[in-house]
Amino acid sequence: MTAVTRLDYLSIFPDYFQVLHLSLLGKAAEHGLVETHFWDLRRWTHDRHRTVDDTPCGGGAGMVMKPEPWGEAFDELLGTEPDPEIHVVVPTPSGYPFRQRDAEQLSTARRILFCCGRYEGIDHRVLEYLRTRWTLHELSLGDYVLNGGEVAALAITEAVVRLIPGVIGNPESLTEESYSPGQEGLLEYPNYTRPVSWRGLEVPEVLMSGHHGRIAQWRHDQSVEITGSRRPDLL
Ligand code: ADE
Repeated sequence: MTAVTRLDYLSIFPDYFQVLHLSLLGKAAEHGLVETHFWDLRRWTHDRHRTVDDTPCGGGAGMVMKPEPWGEAFDELLGTEPDPEIHVVVPTPSGYPFRQRDAEQLSTARRILFCCGRYEGIDHRVLEYLRTRWTLHELSLGDYVLNGGEVAALAITEAVVRLIPGVIGNPESLTEESYSPGQEGLLEYPNYTRPVSWRGLEVPEVLMSGHHGRIAQWRHDQSVEITGSRRPDLL
């Protein structure tokens, strides 16, 4: 029996996370493998307008998220004691690239808090505060800018939760996909199913040969070719 993984989401748009009740993640929650909590950052504001942002010190365009609501949210959700077993994920376009190995590391965590910023980002002292108390992961999904961290937090969640033991019915399906540890860093080969002939397009003959050695070789060659043309940086 695996221990439950607790996932908390802190955002000014907690409704974004409703989709987590669907599909695989919803099932993982139903089966008691994960427990999710969604928090509105404005809960920790005290002014009439429930303000979470302010103009940037030093000038410039856009708004920056104020530190105080974040600090009070951390006090309530995590306490003030340092604990490296608590992982805090801050999605940001200036983060470290999020990779499968990060998903693997996070899938062994008992507790993860996702902090989703909007506007031009979060006051930098919030990140310093997080780094000195808990295990902080500033992660970027890729070289493009989203409006906020919510969609990135959802993507990271899906990559992490599917690796938690018991979430995917057939764990073998995890071992042959792109970026999985057994794949030598190659992208996955193309997959086919029946019918063998469809709209004039055929399943490659070798896959119907029943010859396991030749099939494995063909798949490996395909992986190398696809990786070379799409992601030469991985070779
Ligand atoms: N927030 C905004 N853009 C992002 C990105 N590319 N990755 C992660 N978080 C983000």
